[in-house]
Amino acid sequence: MYVCLCKGVTCSQIRDCARRGEAASLRDLSRALGVATQCGKCGRCARELLEAARAGEAESGAALQCA
Ligand code: FES
Repeated sequence: MYVCLCKGVTCSQIRDCARRGEAASLRDLSRALGVATQCGKCGRCARELLEAARAGEAESGAALQCA
């Protein structure tokens, strides 16, 4: 599922980025994938996905629903 429509970033990309240790914060995600660098509406969801992935809670897209 797309999390950031402006940059075309999916939840899988965010989880993969977290698993590779490339992102520990939303700022890192923004640098790596461009998330939340335009309208910013995806920021909260992206942060929640990142935190869940880092905690090992988001094994599938269904594990976390974004508002
Ligand atoms: S939806 Fe991510 S910056 Fe707009």
